[in-house]
Amino acid sequence: MSARHQPHHASNRASHQRQDGDATRPPASSSDTRELNRRMTHFDGHEAIWVFGYGSLIWKAGFPYLERRPALVHDVSRRFWQGSHDHRGTPQAPGRVVTLIDEPGAQCLGMAYRIAPQTLAPLDLREKNGYLRRVVTLHFVDTDDAPADTREQTAEGLVYIAAADNPAYLGDASLPHIAAQIAEAHGPSGPNSDYLLHLDQALRDLGGPDEHVTLLARELRERMPGTG
Ligand code: SIN
Repeated sequence: MSARHQPHHASNRASHQRQDGDATRPPASSSDTRELNRRMTHFDGHEAIWVFGYGSLIWKAGFPYLERRPALVHDVSRRFWQGSHDHRGTPQAPGRVVTLIDEPGAQCLGMAYRIAPQTLAPLDLREKNGYLRRVVTLHFVDTDDAPADTREQTAEGLVYIAAADNPAYLGDASLPHIAAQIAEAHGPSGPNSDYLLHLDQALRDLGGPDEHVTLLARELRERMPGTG
């Protein structure tokens, strides 16, 4: 990973460290990354910005966009390793949603949206529980009617990633453990199981099922017979 991708992580951790000696304070479980994201100036002055969605942003855009195209990001993998206290769980019983982990040689398929700059603020709000914007190269994989040589094949864009140093990060666990947590969790945006099953379906529709997501969806269905 290049150096320009790193600094947000360090500042995020610093801003959420517990105060020494405060033994009664429970560990932080959620955070608000809006201010850190607002400070990112990389695309300032651009008329439009590409944003890569790899989780709910694939199947539930819920924001205006100018154009969307399936795309790959290289050297990352999708994992249900981020806690959700605000969408698919609660502070008492967090759900699990996806983040990206660095994995050289891997590729993650998702949906890239070209958005107006003012759409970043609602996205920052939606992704505020630990996700920080990172600049990545998008490799478009769509076949468009336009002649290939008139279409961009790559573009610089943003992706929201919840790194291991954010307070809501849950990290790795066995697939049965993750599926059990997802089966139980429910938050303001609905059941955590819906998130997993919609994502699994959306990736199949895109033509690129993700093994981690597919195996989890299978585990979930075994636990919740009659589900999707
Ligand atoms: C994303 O979809 O790109 C981020 C994770 C999520 O909101 O599910």
